[in-house]
Amino acid sequence: MNIGITGASGLIGRRLTDLALQRGHEVFAFSRTPARRILGCTMRLFSTDAPPDFESCEAIVHLAGESVLGLWTAAKKQRIAQSRILGTRRVAEAIASMQNPPEVFISGSAIGFYPDSGDTEVLESAPCGAGFLAQTSRLWEAEALKAAAPRIVLLRTGLVLAREGGALPLLTRIFRLGLGGKLGSGQQWMAWIHLDDLCRLFLFCAENQSLSGPVNGTAPWPVRNTDFTKTLASKLRRPAFLSVPAFALRWLGEFSHELLDSKRVLPGVASAQGFPFRFPELPLALSNLL
Ligand SMILES: NC(=O)c1ccc[n+]([C@@H]2O[C@H](COP(=O)([O-])OP(=O)(O)OC[C@H]3O[C@@H](n4cnc5c(N)ncnc54)[C@H](OP(=O)(O)O)[C@@H]3O)[C@@H](O)[C@H]2O)c1
Repeated sequence: MNIGITGASGLIGRRLTDLALQRGHEVFAFSRTPARRILGCTMRLFSTDAPPDFESCEAIVHLAGESVLGLWTAAKKQRIAQSRILGTRRVAEAIASMQNPPEVFISGSAIGFYPDSGDTEVLESAPCGAGFLAQTSRLWEAEALKAAAPRIVLLRTGLVLAREGGALPLLTRIFRLGLGGKLGSGQQWMAWIHLDDLCRLFLFCAENQSLSGPVNGTAPWPVRNTDFTKTLASKLRRPAFLSVPAFALRWLGEFSHELLDSKRVLPGVASAQGFPFRFPELPLALSNLL
């Protein structure tokens, strides 16, 4: 299969590209700076100014967008929203202009789509939340659904655990210093996924013709923040007695909701389709990654 990947230079994109190449797929890697080469790929331009050239792509995975990590200033929020909403619109426009559209369009989305749900299990049919990330995700998914591809998958990813980037390397440094601890009450649920399982799930969605619509990209066993903290501390053989009170996280502004809201998200569609998770439980994932 010829797979076009936007954001191929990012955390998920790099691993997905490697995995796709290993499985014998051809990869067209889209970047704002296509002069930056990615080994084994054909490079093409991705820009929010004009539709990208997806010629010859049989599947498209759209991952490009401003990182949501960090302080959500007004300018940062605008970059998050614009890069995703406009970027996805450009992808849909490009697909609409193709004589031979791709068989499948997989648009990366996020579990930030869902509201704070307490202890309730969240499946793909759950409604959208009201906060900034939820509403941005809703608009960005709406742009994806305008694409004229026979199959559209909205892959709503949870917290990605990886050695190479994202939250885990930062948490590991903090915990190694003995400064790890639960966030707020620690009772909030965290829906996480090992990077390798997530990338295998992207390819599963590309290859499995019966899959379309929202798909939660999370492990089958989410954990409470307090259990995440204990498991990470025990894998690193460090104490984690501290706790960061909720009020102390509020200086992060709206981003604090991403740390304190409870998301007991389950991979309903992936499990129903028999997707074989290699790292379904947190201790297994952390043993592999640390
Ligand atoms: N990592 C997670 O825990 C996680 C969780 C939930 C959802 N997701 C979603 O999954 C997607 C990929 O995640 P990731 O962690 O791989 O992201 P990432 O490492 O930040 O990479 C995203 C890529 O997007 C491009 N990009 C960055 N800023 C951009 C902007 N302002 N406009 C257009 N393109 C931009 C960059 O590629 P170039 O510089 O080559 O153009 C970058 O390599 C994102 O949409 C993210 O929101 C990730």
